[in-house]
Amino acid sequence: MKIMWGITGAGHLLNESITVLNKLSKKHELTVIFSNAGLEVVKLYGYYKKIEQIISKNPNNKMVFEDDEKYAYPLSGKLTYEKYDLIVISPTTANTVAKIVNGIADNLITNVVAQSGKGQIPLIIVPVDQESGLITTTLPPRINKDICKRCKMCMAKTICPTKAINPPEIDTSKCIRCMKCEDCCLHNAIITNETFELYIRKIDAENTKRLGEIENITTIFNPMDILKDKLLK
Ligand SMILES: Cc1cc2nc3c(=O)[nH]c(=O)nc-3n(C[C@H](O)[C@H](O)[C@H](O)COP(=O)(O)O)c2cc1C
Repeated sequence: MKIMWGITGAGHLLNESITVLNKLSKKHELTVIFSNAGLEVVKLYGYYKKIEQIISKNPNNKMVFEDDEKYAYPLSGKLTYEKYDLIVISPTTANTVAKIVNGIADNLITNVVAQSGKGQIPLIIVPVDQESGLITTTLPPRINKDICKRCKMCMAKTICPTKAINPPEIDTSKCIRCMKCEDCCLHNAIITNETFELYIRKIDAENTKRLGEIENITTIFNPMDILKDKLLK
């Protein structure tokens, strides 16, 4: 199958989304598209190199960025004649869901969503804001500047295979999430799996419910459930 996968600027469900993308890359042709925030957040969490690696598995795979496409988003107009079988947007921010349910198409992702409806291409949306209330989510990797001693011989800097660490900073756009740094910092200053609680607003949960009103959209709450479809396994 020829699949277009859109990534918006959500850290929540990002790890799960990339796990599914990786599994799909074994059998399917992929075009990965990003909102500007999507690209920024992917780099903050250290997933950019991983996505590059996924894309490199098939010469027909590609990545398309918001800034490649401004202002009319020609890629979205090509969806039908380039014969995409499926479009997935995962993770989908509260912002993008709000735009979709109000029929707004003002960036690469929301134009693809609108054009998929016009071309009647099946579209799966994985919203991150699902039910109103508290959720636990993961923060990007970071060095705690209060704990980091700026050691002359920083073990984390030495072991990092992509030279992403320059204490007290991590350049997460170079990170490959190997997590080797976390274990070898003598002061435990590197944090790669920090979680925090945040509140999902009612308006965002209500917008998610409204996705069901749109003709070609299927809403899925866990990216892994995408793999339950026999055609995608
Ligand atoms: C590190 C980080 C994580 C974020 N995670 C989320 C998230 O889980 N859900 C969400 O709705 N917005 C999240 N945001 C905020 C969005 O990136 C922001 O609203 C952005 O404008 C969304 O743009 P987009 O919908 O075009 O991708 C996050 C921002 C940052 C910096």
